[in-house]
Amino acid sequence: MRATPVRGYALGERRIGDLFAEPLKARLRQAPAIPLDAIRYWDTVALATGVMAPLEGFMSRTEVRAVLESWRLSDGRVFPLPITLPVRGDTQRLIRSPLAGLTFRGQLVAALHVEDLYWLDPEEEAKAVYGTQDRRHPGVARVLEDSPIRVAGTVTLLEPPAYPVEPVLTPAALRACLLELGWRKVAAFQTRNPLHRAHEYLHKTVLEWVDGLCLHPLIGATKADDVPVAVRWETYRTLLAGYYPRERVLLSGYPVAMRYAGPREAVFHAVTRRNYGFTHFIVGRDHAGVGHFYPPDAAHQALARFSPAELGIEVIPAPAAFYCHRCQGMASERTCPHSSEDREVLSGTRVRATLAQGGDLPPTLIRPEVAEILRRYYRRQTEGEA
Ligand code: ADX
Repeated sequence: MRATPVRGYALGERRIGDLFAEPLKARLRQAPAIPLDAIRYWDTVALATGVMAPLEGFMSRTEVRAVLESWRLSDGRVFPLPITLPVRGDTQRLIRSPLAGLTFRGQLVAALHVEDLYWLDPEEEAKAVYGTQDRRHPGVARVLEDSPIRVAGTVTLLEPPAYPVEPVLTPAALRACLLELGWRKVAAFQTRNPLHRAHEYLHKTVLEWVDGLCLHPLIGATKADDVPVAVRWETYRTLLAGYYPRERVLLSGYPVAMRYAGPREAVFHAVTRRNYGFTHFIVGRDHAGVGHFYPPDAAHQALARFSPAELGIEVIPAPAAFYCHRCQGMASERTCPHSSEDREVLSGTRVRATLAQGGDLPPTLIRPEVAEILRRYYRRQTEGEA
């Protein structure tokens, strides 16, 4: 029996075949060029490959207004983050041109079908998206550096995406793969960190009752002190090979940049995962958070405001997991009767900070093979600096 069709929106893939790319590129050489930073490069890739469906381009002023005010597009569909393209320089030429070239690291990578040029107050954007204007927040610092002039329009990719790892399945390809596997209940897991035992605990708790799990790590731009994606990928592969059931777990990259926008980004992570055909999405403690800007359950609270039907995916709100010395295993407030003195709290920050300083973590907190890959990475870093 075939699996039931998976939920989600129609996924407009906006990519142009080699045969047709040349004439378009020739036209674009006469058109204004907009250089993309890493975040906007990944936005372009995500928009063009159906990751951000129903969105196929950078937002107009009307869409941004709706998103900032209501966490929804102007047609009411849930979409909590503004996806905009800031521009500097000769905007007069851009106003008159129906087409612009998008370049990344000097190479023409996409076409923009220009629809609107408008002004967005960065302070207002920071406050609405991040809930703060504090420049110590990496997302706020970046937004405040952006040009307030934004250009809207759909995008068409001219080059295959420069994925740093593989596999990276598009939403359409992943849906096809899930149908082929016949999985009905599939949970996706977002991460931007190497995995520790709390992550593994969430996966395995969920694997007890879903058909399959997709480890779906973010592979777009992250902040400088996060572990680079190539190193993380090695840790994921090693962990999966050693400790996960092969026939029930997939690994595929999620080509989007990190915003660190906590609750808003958690909703964004959920609705974009719907596009891949996942039926469930795991959201744990302080999802997409940074420092102490958001309460640990902010993402759960935000997601609870939307029904699964509106999101198109069911959220699994996972409580904070820790190692309990008396339980002698991973646990959470829901399962462990002991006090905080018995518990070891685990976070990506703690793992990074300990291993970067040459310290050690016991196998109860992180798998030794994963710790070893990270220690090697940090050693190379230190040697490079010396
Ligand atoms: S995130 O920025 O991608 O959210 P991270 O990779 O650390 O950061 O987390 C991936 C997922 O695991 C998120 O859903 C996060 O909430 C969850 N998570 C991380 N650590 C814990 C923990 N100790 N207990 C419960 N959930 C956790």
